[in-house]
This record gives sequence, C-alpha cells and structure tokens, in this order.
Amino acid sequence: MGTEHLEDAPEFLMTDKNFEYIRTLAYQQTGIVLPERKKHMVYSRLCRRLRVLGLSDFNAYCRALEKDHQELPNFINALTTNLTSFFRENHHFDFLRDVVMAQWKKSGKKRIRVWSSACSTGEEPYSIAMTLQPLLNQSQLDIKILATDLDTNVLAKAQAGVYPQESLDNISPELIKASFSPLGNQYEVKQSLKDNIHFKQLNLLQPWPMKGPFDVIFCRNVMIYFDTDTRKQIIARFRTLLSNDGYLIIGHSETLHHISEDFTLIGQTIYRPIS
Ligand SMILES: C[S@@+](CC[C@H](N)C(=O)[O-])C[C@H]1O[C@@H](n2cnc3c(N)ncnc32)[C@H](O)[C@@H]1O
Repeated sequence: MGTEHLEDAPEFLMTDKNFEYIRTLAYQQTGIVLPERKKHMVYSRLCRRLRVLGLSDFNAYCRALEKDHQELPNFINALTTNLTSFFRENHHFDFLRDVVMAQWKKSGKKRIRVWSSACSTGEEPYSIAMTLQPLLNQSQLDIKILATDLDTNVLAKAQAGVYPQESLDNISPELIKASFSPLGNQYEVKQSLKDNIHFKQLNLLQPWPMKGPFDVIFCRNVMIYFDTDTRKQIIARFRTLLSNDGYLIIGHSETLHHISEDFTLIGQTIYRPIS
C-alpha cells in the first residue's frame, strides 16, 4: 500500500496558485487558454523543464519565470501543441491547385504571397510549396511563402526540413522524388523548394512586421487554443493584410461564425474577404 501511494505521488508539487500563475502567463504571452482540465497536461509538459533546471517544485519554477526572462521561450515551447502533417486537410491543397492557381493563371498574376501563420514543424508550408511547384520555376513570377510560428523549437525543425519516411505517407512517390533527397534513413526537403520559403518567429498576438498584401493566409489549427476576443483581433488583422481577391484558410474545427463579418465562407473552412 505504501508503495502504491509513493507511485501515485507526483514528482513535483504544483499548487493551485502555481497553476494559476502558469496559465495567466501562458495566456498573456501566447493567447493560449489553459482551462483546469488541462492541468495534468501542463504538469507533464513542464516537468521536463524542472528536471533540466534542477528545481524541486513548481514554486521554484514560477520564481524562475518571474526572476529572469530566459526561461520564457522554453516555457512557451513546452506549452504549445505542434501536431501537424504533410497535406493535412488535403482539400485545402486541392483548392489551392484547382481554384486559386487557376485564378492566378487567368488573371496573369505575377506577384504571389502566401503566409502559413502557425507553421509548426514545416509540413504545412512545404505542402504549399509542393502544390505551387509548377509555378516556382517560372522566372516571370515572383512567389514567396512566409512561414511563421511562435515556438522556436518547431521553427528550427521546419527550417532544417528533415523528416522521417513515415511522415511522407500522404505524398505520392513522384512528388517525394521531386521534393526530397534521402538523408540517411530520413528525407530532406530539396534546397530549391526551401528557397521559396522564408521562416520567421512570429507571435500572432504581437505586432506583425509584414506589410502584405497576401494572396492566401493559412491559419489552421491554432485558433482552437485562443478565446473569442483573441480570435476576433487576429482575424481582423488578417483582413488588413489579405488582398481583396485573397483567401483565408482555417482548420477543420474552426469557424469565423460570430468572429468576423469581414469574410464569407466559399468552401470547406475557406473564406474570402467581403470587399
Ligand atoms: C497544432 S499546430 C498547427 C500546425 C499547422 N498549422 C497545421 O494545421 O497542421 C499549432 C501551432 O500554433 C503555434 N502557436 C500557438 N500560439 C501561437 C501564437 N500566439 N502565435 C503564433 N503561433 C502560435 C504553435 O506553436 C503550434 O506550432
């Protein structure tokens, strides 16, 4: 019985006050809402930081966060959820190819800007680049993909562009051949594809240095972590950076209903601005 009790005891003590401090700081810094039901997840994600820092409990960790800001990026990186995959929600890439690229061709558009605004480990912007591949070698076109995320760890992985074979399951053998080079038992995105993507750390809550206009903005599977006010603010700012004939693409469980009147739904989680 004694052993059972010991096994159940948490490695580090996290008081309600500690959790309150952590979730307030996370909200202020990232917009991510951490309700009570996520306490266990927060605990297990931050335990690693306590071990690295050699701290004995969450009181000490909260003090470390208060004392100097060096721990803040690690704190943020530990709390973000980075799940992604190549051609996730594939209908968005079909739409990009069949509708958007066809529209650009018809209008003779030369300058094309696409923003992957929560790019995680890079699968989303590389899927965009693979979709745009037929246009990328056309010297008369000026195409740039901006890929941003708050989390510096995932951004470093995105920039490296090296992925295990199993993560390429959604990609045809022809596209793998055209887009990746084998690297040991992994695959690296070809430099010619990487060259079209500009990776940058950017917190959606803070000022954005870009002027736009963007032709397509991907903001997928990040707004689910935000509250309504944060969503409203970010969507309003997307509108100012999106060209009048551009598209805003969001995640499968997200909606602009009750969030913005500036957009109209024209496909599955695909919006156009109302001009
Ligand atoms: C679940 S991933 C989504 C990745 C990709 N967009 C997709 O749909 O597959 C969410 C990403 O949002 C990022 N994120 C969370 N809060 C953010 C913020 N305030 N600013 C920018 N990125 C943020 C996280 O770091 C994470 O990489």
